[in-house]
Amino acid sequence: MAAIAQSIALLLFLSLAYLSHGGITSRFMRKLEASVDMPAEAFPPPSGHNAPEQVHITQGDRNGRGVIISWVTPLSPKPNVVRYWAADSDEDHDHTVRSRITTYKYYNYTSGFIHHATISDLEYDTKYFYEIGSGDAKRRFFFTTPPMVGPDVPYTFGIIGDLGQTYDSNQTFEHYYSNSKGQAVLFVGDLSYADNHPFHDNRKWDTWGRFVEKSTAYQPWIWTAGNHEMDFAPELGENTPFKPFTHRYHVPYKSAQSSSPLWYSIKRASAYIIVLSSYSAYGTYTPQYQWLKNEFTKVKREETPWLIVMLHSPWYNSYDYHYMEGESMRVMFEPWFVENKVDLVLSGHVHAYERSERVSNVRYNITNRLSTPIRDINAPMYVTIGDGGNIEGLANQFTEPQPNYSAFREASFGHALLEIKNRTHAYYTWHRNHDNEPVAADSLWIYNRYWYPEDESSQ
Ligand SMILES: [Fe+2]
Repeated sequence: MAAIAQSIALLLFLSLAYLSHGGITSRFMRKLEASVDMPAEAFPPPSGHNAPEQVHITQGDRNGRGVIISWVTPLSPKPNVVRYWAADSDEDHDHTVRSRITTYKYYNYTSGFIHHATISDLEYDTKYFYEIGSGDAKRRFFFTTPPMVGPDVPYTFGIIGDLGQTYDSNQTFEHYYSNSKGQAVLFVGDLSYADNHPFHDNRKWDTWGRFVEKSTAYQPWIWTAGNHEMDFAPELGENTPFKPFTHRYHVPYKSAQSSSPLWYSIKRASAYIIVLSSYSAYGTYTPQYQWLKNEFTKVKREETPWLIVMLHSPWYNSYDYHYMEGESMRVMFEPWFVENKVDLVLSGHVHAYERSERVSNVRYNITNRLSTPIRDINAPMYVTIGDGGNIEGLANQFTEPQPNYSAFREASFGHALLEIKNRTHAYYTWHRNHDNEPVAADSLWIYNRYWYPEDESSQ
């Protein structure tokens, strides 16, 4: 019986996977109807006068003892207080912190009152309740701080990109939400896709905030800026890139000595996470270049073994979409990534899924013809996961043949989980929306580049 089951499994695998010169191109096909936005009525504002809405949290400091709590009030800026207390203590032992309030205008849209409150010096690995609003609009949420930063601290990240707010987005989001393993989300850019609507309809930023609230209010999402965050529209008189995004989503860039919220870093559990901006200057001498150069000197693998970089536009992408768009940034920064043994680079932008082999392409010097990517034990693994399910639909055209650097690619929507176990091993799974959450369409043990630099593909 076991042999028959094995044969059936093998046949199924071969029917899904097409083996080429490179890795695996999965021929799993999803439905190809256009992705349509869910109606605004699907996300009504919460009840009560001036009720806080679009609640989201992110890490608020360097090490995970701080949290930035953000929300929007539609009618008036007050109250602007967060009350919080440890779940295992008496509610009377509460603390309060005030939010800073901002608003912005975009063409014919005026935002509500956007609040950002930073709580600091929390205990590690502790559950806290927090409450915002007053009277009949009072709302209560909770979060758990991460364990103290250290080399063998297990921690599980969800990975989501290019989410948008379509019915497919909802499937991706609900899939992730239904899995209790994820403790924080690494979001690789492109949030609401408001800019795909007339006049960059900024009400779409509000509905997106309501859509994701049941996760973002309870666990931190670590934000990366994508091209859909730029909202640069001189024809509308909107000349300041990233205006809605930077008003709505705050990140702890100052504690990372960054001069911009578009690039920053945090330490969380056993991971050092660097966030870069594909859409800000990164050439030699620019602020982002200078910051990143210095940043690598701060990473201590004895403290944070796992070095993860998030950037929106992928460097290794074998789809026909956005092909080579990440190339100039790759040329600038890839030598640093290899020298510093980055474990994993997470990108979005291409609306499909792809995972690379450990490769580098750093030998080329204009005249030596060494421009082909090669296997490199010190190189990162690149994951493209812009498959959240947004309104622009799926990227389903591959470049052929599949290049050697591409280990697995599939044109389906989904999300991933990275389960860091200790300083040497992390278990990585990608979940396509058409399967049940426990099914992993792509999975492997990832070995740490500093502590256990073995080749995963040969196991
Ligand atoms: Fe994008």
